[in-house]
This record gives sequence, structure tokens and C-alpha cells, in this order.
Amino acid sequence: MSGHNVWTHKGTFLLAAVGSAVGLGNLWRFPYLTGENGGGAFILIYALTIFAVGIPILIAETMLGRTSRRSPIMGMRHLIKTHKTSRAWESIGWLGAASAFLILSFYSVIAGWALHYTWLMLTGSLVGADAQTISDGFNALLASPGLMTLYHTLFIAASALIVGMGIHKGIESGLRIMMPALFVILIVVLIYGIINGDVGAAASFLFTFNISDLSLEGWLQAMGQSFFTLSLGMGAIMAYGAYMSSEASLTRTAIAVAFVDTAVAMVAGLAIFSLVFGAGLETGQGPGLMFVTLPLAFAEMPFGALVGGVFFILVLGAAISSSISLIEPVAAFLVERFDMTRPQAVTIMVVAAWAMGLLTVLSFNVWAEGTIFHSLFGRSAFEFIELLTNIFMPLGGLMIALFAGWALTQSEVIKELGTNATWFKIWRFLVRFVGPAAVSFVFLRTIPQVEGYLIPTLGALIIVAAFAIGQRLRQPKTSS
Ligand code: PFF
Repeated sequence: MSGHNVWTHKGTFLLAAVGSAVGLGNLWRFPYLTGENGGGAFILIYALTIFAVGIPILIAETMLGRTSRRSPIMGMRHLIKTHKTSRAWESIGWLGAASAFLILSFYSVIAGWALHYTWLMLTGSLVGADAQTISDGFNALLASPGLMTLYHTLFIAASALIVGMGIHKGIESGLRIMMPALFVILIVVLIYGIINGDVGAAASFLFTFNISDLSLEGWLQAMGQSFFTLSLGMGAIMAYGAYMSSEASLTRTAIAVAFVDTAVAMVAGLAIFSLVFGAGLETGQGPGLMFVTLPLAFAEMPFGALVGGVFFILVLGAAISSSISLIEPVAAFLVERFDMTRPQAVTIMVVAAWAMGLLTVLSFNVWAEGTIFHSLFGRSAFEFIELLTNIFMPLGGLMIALFAGWALTQSEVIKELGTNATWFKIWRFLVRFVGPAAVSFVFLRTIPQVEGYLIPTLGALIIVAAFAIGQRLRQPKTSS
């Protein structure tokens, strides 16, 4: 399709992909998962997956977007036709859309908490508060479906507004302001953590590897997190890749994205754990880590309200630059497929994800226990949705790797990648064998043994298989 949008500058894809990658995953999820899973061992698996599996798949996913120049689902259809391969691969697009929708639903709720804390910090409400007051405050937020829904609504509406304005006026201009500010603020918080916290304890917690510290579920979480943090396996990167300049280098850009993303997670981890250890707090707090321990650290420290306020603005900016990339693939699909206007498409996606988000809101209060999710999967709706995305994203990534490595005509692939033959062979070896083997290994190791995992995994596989078979049975195109 000619006339497809392209980013204004050669480097904008890098900005957009970093904006998508750096988010709550780095600032909220990475530190708390690391804290819960004993530190270094978790980071080791996470980092190995990023480099051996994440980067090659990032290259593959960007390439699929750029060569098709369409939204993920339509792009897959196009590639299937031009490379004369099985229609079953279209399931990559659908699985991605499902993941985007699920992630956006809970992402917006958590980002809403950051909105609450930005407000509390900037108004100085927590200055001098003690541990009990702060944890009571967080629990009160969780206990209030109304308040959480309000913040969730505000956040998702703001994201929708940006995407609704289009990729140039909305997404690009938004990112140009948010991303540089974000890096400056992160450095400020790190310096503050080093001066006022215990950076030595933080570093030894993060970088002492003891693989036996990692539980079985920890393996899946580490792998899931490395896909989550790179926004992989669900079409966000493919959608942005569709707007990427043909002149930019795929490999160099992908490596840069992974590098910046990992650096941000490490810096955030160092800053947060410096404050946590400095204030003598617990590391294994779970999802509340950033929202309880950090405000406490800020409450006790000089200029804490200001630095805390600035920190939560950072969290919000990072979250919104990611949430827009969750809306884009589905919205672009609706525009391309059904000729909707962009605002219409964005509204449909966002209203549906907003409604789904209410499940997450209620998981922390009214439906905190005793629901059908608890009886079937031993966890709340929020935890179940998170679990699904921990399975869907690596599964999507695995399929992207196989598609790019085996199904596409390789002479076309090498042209699009624009690398020399040696790099191409290395990349192809990684997507053909290493990525799929690593993902399968972790799936096989964890899924049958962790309570509540088997049913959703089988369910996901059955959906993909049913879809694949359905595609096959549809009148096969005898196009040449
Ligand atoms: N990478 C984002 C983060 O680390 O917060 C989360 C995310 C955004 C995941 C977009 C997936 C995605 F498509």
C-alpha cells in the first residue's frame, strides 16, 4: 500500500520504540519482580533472554512491520500472500492484538496509581509520614474502586487523545517532549538515591547471582518480563516498524533499543533499591514496592516531596509513551480494515480496554478473593490477565521468530535486513533455533509444574491451533 505513513525523521522509530519499551515494565515491574525473586539470579535469566532471544526477535518484528508497511494483522496477511506461505501465520497478528488489549487494560490501572502518587507528592501530603501511614494510604487506594476507576479513566483517556491525533502530531510530538525529560529525571533520582540511600547494598542485591534462588515460576516471570519490557511479540513494535524509514538500520536500531531499555531498568533498580536499603525496607513487597517503599523513602528525605513528585511524573511519562504503543496496532488495524477514522478506531479500542480494566480495579478490593478466577486458576483476575500476557508475549515472539526464520523467503529477508551475509546467518541461527529453543525450554520447565498455569496455556495453544486450522480450511488462494 503506497501512501502509508512514515515517521518524519530517520531516527524517529528509535525514539518511538524506546518510548514503547521504557515504561512501567522498567520502573515498576522490573524492580518488584527482582525483589520478589531474590535479585541477581532473576536478572541473569532476564538479561540472557534479552540478548540471545529479545534482540533477534526485535529485529524480526521490526522487519515484519517495515517490509509490509501495514498494521500487524493486515501486514501478516500481506506477507503471507507475497511470500506464499500458510495463512495460519495470521494468528501472530491476532494473538498480538489480544495481548495489546489485555496489557492495556491493566497497564492503565497501574499507571493510574502513579497519577495518585504524583498528586500526593506534589501537594506534600506525605511529608514526614511514617511507614504505617503510607502503607495504610496505599491500601486505602486499593480498597477504593471508585478512586482507582477515576485514575484509570484519566490515564487511558490521555493516551487515547495522543494516539487519536495521529502519528505525527500526536505520537511523535508527544515523544519528543517526554523522552528527553524522562532521562534527565531518571538521572536526578539515581543521584539522589546514591547520596541518600545505600547504593552498595543495592548493587550487591542486583548483581550477586545464585541461580538456586530462582523459583520455577521465577523462570517464566524472568522470560515474560524480558518480552514485556521490550514490548515484544504483540505487534506494537511491528506497528511502529511500519512507519520506519527504509534507510534506518534494523540491527543497529534494535540493539540500541534493547541497550537503552536494559540500562533504564538497571538504573531504576539501583535507584529504587538504594532507597529501599537506605531506609531499611523490605525488598519482596510485590506490586506495592514502588508505591509504598518509595513514598516512604521520599517522606523521610530532604526535598523528598519534590524529588518524589518528579519521580512519579517520570513514571507517568514513561507509562504513557508505552500505552500509546499498545493502542496503535489495534487502532491502525481498524482504520485499515474497516476504513474507520482514527478517532473512531482509537475510541473502540480504548473503551473496550477500559471496560476490561475494571476487572483489574476490582481484583484489589471487591473481587480480591472468592471469584471464579480464584477457583479455576488460584489467582485474581488481575493476576490471571498478567499470567496470560506472560504466556502470550513469549508465544507471539516464538511465532514471529519461526515466521521470520523459516516461512519468509530468505532472499527477501536478507535484502530487508541490509546486513552482510555473516550477520544475517547469525541472526537467522538465533531466530531459527536459539529463540524457539529458549522459549520452549522455559515453557516446558515451568508450565506443567506451576499451579494454575496449565489450563491457560493449553487454552492459548488451543485458540492459536483452532485459528490456524480455520485459516487453512478457508478457501486456499491459488494466487501466484
Ligand atoms: N514495554 C512496556 C514496559 O516495559 O512498560 C510495556 C509494553 C508496552 C509491553 C507495549 C508491550 C507493548 F506492546
